[in-house]
Formats: sequence, C-alpha cells, structure tokens
Amino acid sequence: MLNKLNKQPEDKILQLMQWYKDDTRDNKIDLGVGVYKDATGLTPVMRAVKNAEQRLWAEETTKTYTALAGDAGFHKVMADLVLAESVPRNRVAAAATPGGTGAIHMVLELAKMANPDVTVWLSAPTWPNHPSIVRHLGMKMTEYRYFDEATLAVDFDGMMADLDKVKAGDLVLLHGCCHNPTGANLNLTQWDKVADKLLEKGAVPFVDIAYQGFGDGLDEDAAAVRLLAARMPEMLIAASCSKNFGIYRERTGIVLAICPDAETQPVTQGNLAFLNRQNFSFPPDHGARLVTIILSDPELRAEWMAELEDVRLGMLALRQQLADELQRLSGSDRFGFIAQHRGMFSRMGATPEQVAALREKHGVYMVGDSRINIAGLNRKTVPVLAKALIDVGV
Ligand code: LMR
Repeated sequence: MLNKLNKQPEDKILQLMQWYKDDTRDNKIDLGVGVYKDATGLTPVMRAVKNAEQRLWAEETTKTYTALAGDAGFHKVMADLVLAESVPRNRVAAAATPGGTGAIHMVLELAKMANPDVTVWLSAPTWPNHPSIVRHLGMKMTEYRYFDEATLAVDFDGMMADLDKVKAGDLVLLHGCCHNPTGANLNLTQWDKVADKLLEKGAVPFVDIAYQGFGDGLDEDAAAVRLLAARMPEMLIAASCSKNFGIYRERTGIVLAICPDAETQPVTQGNLAFLNRQNFSFPPDHGARLVTIILSDPELRAEWMAELEDVRLGMLALRQQLADELQRLSGSDRFGFIAQHRGMFSRMGATPEQVAALREKHGVYMVGDSRINIAGLNRKTVPVLAKALIDVGV
C-alpha cells in the first residue's frame, strides 16, 4: 500500500528553513519563515505568556477534555478581539482549532459540506498553503489579481475587475491584514468597495487573519474584518494566535463563522464541533487557555498589548531603516514601498535568479518569490541586506 504513495512537493518555506540550517556561514541572514525574532535573533516567549503559564500551572486542577469546539471562554475573548462590537454574538459560531492552518482547513471543509461545488477565490499571490489545502480537499479554485509587480502595491482595479466574475455562493479568501506574502494592503475605502462587490454578487468572504497587531495596531488591523462582519450576511474567519501571542508551537487558532441569523447559528456550531470530532476530536487547549487568561485579565492584557506594540514598532522602524538605506545606496525612491507595506512580510520585487544569488553569494535567505520576513532583520543586518540587494541588481 505505502509503496503506491507519490512523493509530495516540498513546501517552499519549510525547505528554505532547512537550507538556512544547513548553511555553515556565520554571517547568514534568515528572512524566510514568518516567525518573529528580536534584535538578538531569538523568538522569545512573551512575558504575558510566561505569567499566564505560571498562573495556569498554579490554578489548573484537571486536564480532562474540554468541549469539542474548545472552551467557550476562548471563543468569547477571541470573538471580542477580532470582531469587537461589529456583529451580535448570537450570529457567531466558533471552534478552537490547531493553529490558524487548522482553522483554514476547517473553514474550507465547512464550506465544502455546505456546498460541494463551491469555488474558492484566492489572491494572486497568496500564502502557498492556501492553494495547497484547497487542492488537497479537492475543491474548485480560482484567483483574483491582487498585486502589481511593477509598483509593488495592491492592483485594486485588477482585483475589482476579477471579483466582478465571482458567482453567488463563491468563497472569496481575503487576508484580513498584513498580506502574506506581499505586505501590500487595502485601505478601508477599498475594503468598503470589496464589501459592496461581494454583497452585489452574493459571495461569501473568508477572512484569514494571522497577524492582528503586527500592522497598524490591534484595532486598526481588525478594522477590515469588522467592516465586513457588520455588512455581510455571512462570513467565515480563520484567526491565528501563533504570531501575536508568539505561541507558534502551541497550535492555537479559531474559526469564527458569522451566520445570516440567530436560527442558523446552532446548526453551524454543531457542524464545527462535528468537523473537529472527525479530524482530531478535541482541539489543543493549552495555548487557547493562555490566550483566555491574558485577554480576560486587565493587567496581563496590558502587558501583552505593550509587548505586541513593541514588536510592531520594531518592525516599522526596520522597514523605515531599510527603505532609507536602499534610497541612499540606489539614489532612487523605488524602495519607498518597504516603508508603506505592513506586517511581517514584504515582497522585494527580485527575480528568482537574484533571490538565488542573494542566498549563494550573500547568505541571505528569502522565499523564492522574494518575500522577506522583516522581523528576521536587526539594525545591524539592515545595511548588509541593502548592500546585497543592490549588489545582485534589485
Ligand atoms: C509563513 O508564511 O512563513 C508562516 O505563516 C509560517 C508557515 O507556516 O508558512
């Protein structure tokens, strides 16, 4: 049986992690996988998380199962964090999942159960795991234009022209903030136009929000998802706590399903619990509980918010430094986009050959499409990267 299996294609991002590990040069720079690193290159456990863990250790009296859809307290704090007051809670179904990827998988499965023929629209480009999961689930998939390779900004006209072809009931996957891999994002006026278009077409938005707090701030980064939640009859959301709580390996994510009315909510909730049961029974609880403790306690919440804000401002400062450095070296403004982009990533507009040269000649590791993880930089490596980019002709 097992000899009938085909070799799977390498995951480009995870492959890059391995290449970086295997490189013996001291001055190598890892701008690959989307993991936050501080100025010393470490991915620290946030102080608020450590404090919540201490509290959990002292107070937790059992490790028995939670509910199939996860703990109701986690649903509440996450619905508040992502949706705020945008939609009444009796329209929101929720299920904890193993990470944001688990949530994406679950949303797609739910959509497929509701409509086996559903077409999923993805931004071009998008996180490579999106099309991979859609394909794995055997669902129909198509793309809408999103990124202008020439300006390295959103191609909004192209996006709207493509969304005009969306059919009633289609699922349109949108990045809630901090677009991965491009770093280019819609403004709120544009989001409003997207909402108009989806409403006109009767399509369902599916928002993947994995970087809330990494762009313009916790509320600012949720403004788009809240705008859609307030306007759309139905919406599916996959949210991740991996990055903004720094709890990557705890696998903490959630599906939030906004139902057309309160009557549809219990059946949707039941289907989410059913899907969890079929896939893995109960979702992981440790990370979800830490998030619940942090968000429910004013002191821990304030500590977490301050820490997250430091992370965000640190990345913004690195963006500005890189843009300034490249302007100085190139004598042109063409790198201004780096300071305009938001979140962990920016696409640099380098060719695959230039990306390979950066890796081979300079020990700079970025994804093949020239996506860099801004948090992989520090004040000392920014000038090194800038010089290397100019050297390979970007
Ligand atoms: C990324 O895009 O680098 C992250 O979301 C990590 C991953 O799993 O790919």
